[in-house]
Amino acid sequence: MSIEQLADIARAMVAPGKGIIAIDESNATIAKRFAAVGIENSEENRRAYREMLLTTPKLGEHISGAILFDETIRQSTKAGVPFTKVMMDNGIIPGIKVDKGTHALAGCPGEVVTEGLDGLRERLKEYAKLGAKFAKWRAVITINEEDGLPTNTCIEANVHALARYAALCQECGIVPMVEPEVLMDGVHDIDECYSVTEAVLLSLFDALRLFGVELEGTILKASMVVSGKDCEEQASVEEVANATVRCLRSAVPAILPGIVFLSGGQSDEDATAHLNAMNQIGPNPWPLSFSYGRAMQSAALKIWSEDLQGNIGKAQQTVYARARDNGLAALGKLGG
Ligand code: 13P
Repeated sequence: MSIEQLADIARAMVAPGKGIIAIDESNATIAKRFAAVGIENSEENRRAYREMLLTTPKLGEHISGAILFDETIRQSTKAGVPFTKVMMDNGIIPGIKVDKGTHALAGCPGEVVTEGLDGLRERLKEYAKLGAKFAKWRAVITINEEDGLPTNTCIEANVHALARYAALCQECGIVPMVEPEVLMDGVHDIDECYSVTEAVLLSLFDALRLFGVELEGTILKASMVVSGKDCEEQASVEEVANATVRCLRSAVPAILPGIVFLSGGQSDEDATAHLNAMNQIGPNPWPLSFSYGRAMQSAALKIWSEDLQGNIGKAQQTVYARARDNGLAALGKLGG
């Protein structure tokens, strides 16, 4: 696939007023989400839940793409229609999580590196055949000032893997979404989050350049610059928006087609308000949109869990409302 075709997909992922729903929880992660609402983590429940999400009426009005898990990209609706077909029929681009999760990084206590490069070329070729047009790889960076985290070793190991993943994706005709998540966990303040996020992004774009990744066919999935969850002083919506936009302007090349954010444990309201405020600052070199998991799904999961059959419509109304609000926030037009 040519770089122009990859760039077309990347631009469609961040089309005005649209964003991405992340429903790529591994079986271990969805087990935690289901346990919190008392649902058994069976394959059929996972399938039924993802069917509810993906068949939300008019979802394509505000959702450009959905990130699936390996099991999910192979699943179908109860009526037998493959999920990827349901998505394409609604103008939703299929994406796939291809990393194999985080593992302790040897020599760096308290830090992790994302694995999954072995055999990735073959897996990407298969995912392309199954209909995936973009992929996701999440790296995780922990802040702990007392212990001197993150270390440069951890940052370099993770951006190296992200860049090798991204180069393989483009070779296989798939747009790489590169996700270096700086965790919100910790007592650090917003300034520390800013410094770490900026350092990670600068290293990431160096690595992408080193590996010849074409930025026009790449999407960044970023974490916002926020106060640590346990920091006594929590930054306001305006502070988060200003710090995040400034950090991105400092470290992300303008040629990138778009940036989407993860929600990372923020409340639904905060995730939407922060995105809206960022889009009121501008103009920015790139569209700023969303690729939320929890902040798109948590309300719907709760409603669905109370009556799996009876509440499908109600749960879908919530999914649609979250997509609409986040879509408006991607335009900076929420609440007038
Ligand atoms: P959250 O929005 O729940 O952080 O999930 C997004 C995601 O895909 C993390 O990799």
